[in-house]
Amino acid sequence: MTDGEQALLDCDNIVKRFGQLAAVDGMSLSVQQGEIVGIGGPNGAGKTTFFDVVTGITPATGGQVQLDHRDISGMGADRICQLGIARTFQLNAAFESLTVRENIDIAAYFGKGKRAVPGFRLGTDVREQTEEALAFVGLANKADETVAQLPVLDRKLLMIAGAIATRPRILFLDEPVGGLNAGEIDYIMELVLKLNGDGLTVVLIEHVMRFLLALSSRVLIMHHGKKIFEGLPNQVAEDPVVIETYLGEGTRKRLKTFFAEGEAQP
Ligand SMILES: Nc1ncnc2c1ncn2[C@@H]1O[C@H](COP(=O)(O)OP(=O)(O)O)[C@@H](O)[C@H]1O
Ligand SMILES: [Mg+2]
Repeated sequence: MTDGEQALLDCDNIVKRFGQLAAVDGMSLSVQQGEIVGIGGPNGAGKTTFFDVVTGITPATGGQVQLDHRDISGMGADRICQLGIARTFQLNAAFESLTVRENIDIAAYFGKGKRAVPGFRLGTDVREQTEEALAFVGLANKADETVAQLPVLDRKLLMIAGAIATRPRILFLDEPVGGLNAGEIDYIMELVLKLNGDGLTVVLIEHVMRFLLALSSRVLIMHHGKKIFEGLPNQVAEDPVVIETYLGEGTRKRLKTFFAEGEAQP
């Protein structure tokens, strides 16, 4: 990031306390248009809570979030989504008894403009957004299946489809490949690269280092609610504090090979 570049998203000194616990303890992050920013760190580091604050799921205890120089701190999740930040969740979040298409319709309908529940009617714009999102993630042939019956990969794809159906400016992904096998991870990686290639800015949380480091243009590592590292992907495994608190020696060695040969699986 160079000085003077205008950030699309600016999170300044975000704090979130749960009683005595500062789950997020002074996190700052600027995201430029077109970046993929990756966030790693041990369980309980505050990564999801940071996403929850920025996306309006939970109110911050302190700090400010600006989207394109507009203060969005304190706004509700629906409004923030309508302004252009969409997200997926670490755990499955969907209307279980509805079909895949119905879930995405709801995201497309409520995610972009101010809508009221009375008068709920799906216009051609919503239908188009839904079909586009279904085709993009590869769920078109399962559009009429009930969500509760879907396997893990499809649940992840559904959340991504719902998020992109809102036509966001920034996409937040919370552990998009958690619990997936290697081939499935590659599939999601390709989707994220395609979205980013089309100009979408992405902020993602992931423990799978291969995914995090291969996709991100910049990586942050969090620990105890704070940012303990920010830099390029190939610097992460060289940072003594990151090795000590998160990765350990074994992963450091694997990642070193990964960057040297570009083929090992960290
Ligand atoms: N609603 C909540 N109430 C109380 N503590 C919470 C709540 N949500 C998260 N925490 C705590 O905040 C810390 C950060 O959690 P989280 O953001 O989920 O971490 P991460 O996503 O990095 O694994 C953890 O100690 C967790 O137990
Ligand atoms: Mg989490």
